[in-house]
Amino acid sequence: PTIYRKDYTPPSYWVRTVEMGFDLEPSATRVATRMTLERNQTSNDKVLTLYGEELQLVQIRLNGKVLGTKAYQLKDGVLRIPTTAEQITLDIETLLQPDRNTSLMGLYVSNGNFFTQCEAEGFRKITYFPDRPDVMATYKVMLRGDKKKYPVLLSNGNLIEQGDLGDGRHYALWEDPFKKPSYLFALVAGQLVCQEETIKLKSGREALLQVWVEEGNLDKTQHAMDSLINSIRWDEERFGLELDLDRFMIVAVGDFNMGAMENKGLNIFNTKFVLANPRIATDVDYGNIEAVVGHEYFHNWTGNRVTCRDWFQLSLKEGLTVFRDQEFSADMIGTDSGRAVKRIDDVRVLRQAQFPEDAGPMAHPVRPDSFVEISNFYTVTIYEKGAEVVRMYQTLLGRDGFRKGMDLYFERHDGQAVECDDFRAAMSDANGRDLTQFERWYSQAGTPRVVATTVYDAVHKTYAITLKQSCPATPGQKNKLPFHIPVAVGLLDSNGNDMQLHLRGFPQVQSTVVLELMEEQQTFVFEDVSEEPVPSLLRDFSAPVNLEYDYSDADLAFLMAHDSDAFNRWEAGQRLAARRLLALTATAQQSGAVLTTDPALSESLRLTLNDAALDPAFREIALNLPSETVIAEQMDVINPQAIHQARRFLRQSLAQALRADFIEAYKANQTPGDYSPDAASAGKRALKNLALSYISELDDAAAHVMAQTQCDGADNMTDRVAALGALANSTAPGKEAALAQFYQDFEAEPLVVDKWFSLQAMARTTDVAAVRKLMQHPAFSLKNPNRARSLIFSFCNGNPSQFHASDGSGYAFWAEQVIALDAINPQVAARLARSLDRWRKYAPSLQSKMQAALKRVAQTAKLSKDTKEVVGKSLAAE
Ligand code: ARG
Ligand code: ZN
Repeated sequence: PTIYRKDYTPPSYWVRTVEMGFDLEPSATRVATRMTLERNQTSNDKVLTLYGEELQLVQIRLNGKVLGTKAYQLKDGVLRIPTTAEQITLDIETLLQPDRNTSLMGLYVSNGNFFTQCEAEGFRKITYFPDRPDVMATYKVMLRGDKKKYPVLLSNGNLIEQGDLGDGRHYALWEDPFKKPSYLFALVAGQLVCQEETIKLKSGREALLQVWVEEGNLDKTQHAMDSLINSIRWDEERFGLELDLDRFMIVAVGDFNMGAMENKGLNIFNTKFVLANPRIATDVDYGNIEAVVGHEYFHNWTGNRVTCRDWFQLSLKEGLTVFRDQEFSADMIGTDSGRAVKRIDDVRVLRQAQFPEDAGPMAHPVRPDSFVEISNFYTVTIYEKGAEVVRMYQTLLGRDGFRKGMDLYFERHDGQAVECDDFRAAMSDANGRDLTQFERWYSQAGTPRVVATTVYDAVHKTYAITLKQSCPATPGQKNKLPFHIPVAVGLLDSNGNDMQLHLRGFPQVQSTVVLELMEEQQTFVFEDVSEEPVPSLLRDFSAPVNLEYDYSDADLAFLMAHDSDAFNRWEAGQRLAARRLLALTATAQQSGAVLTTDPALSESLRLTLNDAALDPAFREIALNLPSETVIAEQMDVINPQAIHQARRFLRQSLAQALRADFIEAYKANQTPGDYSPDAASAGKRALKNLALSYISELDDAAAHVMAQTQCDGADNMTDRVAALGALANSTAPGKEAALAQFYQDFEAEPLVVDKWFSLQAMARTTDVAAVRKLMQHPAFSLKNPNRARSLIFSFCNGNPSQFHASDGSGYAFWAEQVIALDAINPQVAARLARSLDRWRKYAPSLQSKMQAALKRVAQTAKLSKDTKEVVGKSLAAE
């Protein structure tokens, strides 16, 4: 059944307090819950509604009296108790089987320890409860369990008592002073150890910080701890927000559906986003850990103190918190160009994953109007596009204006469950700005298209930029109204310098102006423009749109060399490369056609590669060609083989043309001495390893030696995995031995074994048969989400030319795995089900095979509603 935003009704009862007792046993955990409820005076509903799933109901007592089965109605996981009493005390006893819980929602066992995941609707797998985010209560939690098996017992808030029970068991009593929705509840029990530190907060209060891991992983917690401390400091500085608890815990777990979870005071993390040391983690891992630790910490205010009224408002907390973690990471790098590289990285994710989502069958607005399964809406649209929407407020209002809006948001809504509209109202009211039209960013799906045209009038010295916007139809939304789009622009003179801009009607003179496009079409006129400029449009990617302008190749080369906006320097290179790649792809589709090189592009890239004034990190990102997926999105009909051939050809020809330069960059960017993941060292390694990957495209003996030497000598995971990846994509004689050695060296490190599976899954020569063979490896398991992602997702999403093999074998494999996963873990299965989202964009011969695979999944008996929603929407008529 589809749930609609417009159907929201407030709850008939508020829950004020919750007391829970857990008797922890893997196969039979008893949960006793006592809640006090108070009638919501504004509700006319004469029924108290609670939700429960996959649990056994033992007993319900209302005000102390056992309720007979006639006193309530229980159907399809909904428990209805007819009542209009003002105050109620409800006691509910339930029985759970955490060791059989493979969905990893609710209470589950991972490697012998207990963990919970309650967002979005997992709490209902623990007890019957009004499990909705607008019902907020204070919690007191008693945990009891075997002393030896579960020496550590954790829950939200403060530890107020612990002791022995005399029967081999012990207990711990936790109390969370802040009221919270049930999705923020958490408990952890088991054999864990922690690194801890006490810090002084800005107000002078002290806080105890802990990072909990399994025994053997204590040598991998320092970076997470550092990241947590940096996050706390940053939020104090940038937003004036302080940690409100005396104790803040992070716990790592190896079986986890997503990245991490912001449970109040007890964040639970996928090990992937906690554990790091130079031996097992890459520079990218270090960066991701910092970002995710920050993200979950920042949720303490944006998500926990102010939460969502209903799940349609999910982006209220996620978009805002992603924006905050992006800004945090950018500030941690410190340098201007570091900031730009971070921005480019974030935009790459948006284009790689969100733009396709916005153009496909699962497209939905940042604030959706309906869903079947909320778990399917933890999407790149809610998160990443949501963050872009928040960023646009800052672009329109300025940093100070944005901060004023944030302050007002907390002043008005601390302790409340609110809507996206409330955030917009705070931004608007704090700045006296009308943001009515801005609402369309929340209500309309699809990536807007902005077409720019320009006219220079040499007589009157004016330069006119006309912007015209449109937005493609998306499911359920045929016609779109104009968005409020901030378009940051600069104009370059013939020396490549920024002109001082006099926008007609505005007094200030600036080198970058934010044009506000609000109509379908608008013309902006600049005055006193002494010569025809080259426009730098959508600087710093000021809006999540596709901007088109008829640049000449020469214009793009000029922008690449001179634009003061680092994002647009990068962008110009990407436009130029995409142009070549699309032309090569078109050629590759004609039989017998010969692909030819383009010296102009390699000369531009040579300049960038050798420009010592540019940070290595920027040069690396600039030399990276648009991905196969990004190119695919720009085609009317996707031909994955032709795209692959074109991109490979272009990389090989660049490797040939720039070989000496790459070798020079390789030598010049060594990082001798102790490994450090700081941005400058990581940038050097990135550029060095980019050089290696280009040189390896030549697949000759010299390249093999280079990769082999680095693989053998590497003293950190970044270099090791880069070299192994190069070998895995080559015909080097030492390839199999290198793969075997790597496995042997890191067999005991699950996160590194994931890398080993993943790089093989994405290697050019890995076909379906090879993936099936890897699945037979003793280390492979479908039950562990990280492992399933490392092999199966990496292949289906990261190896397009093999996945889209013309015989359809990739699709048959996909269907098999979606079905197998669905029986274990619906959330993970439904993610994999997204791999065929864009099936209608392919040639008819592939389309029909994809459709058949989708139908096969759709027709499977007992399919979860998660997967059913995804394949159902994929198959639905356009
Ligand atoms: N709120 C978490 C985060 O953004 C994501 C949790 C989603 N979990 C889930 N099972 N759907 O970090
Ligand atoms: Zn989040």
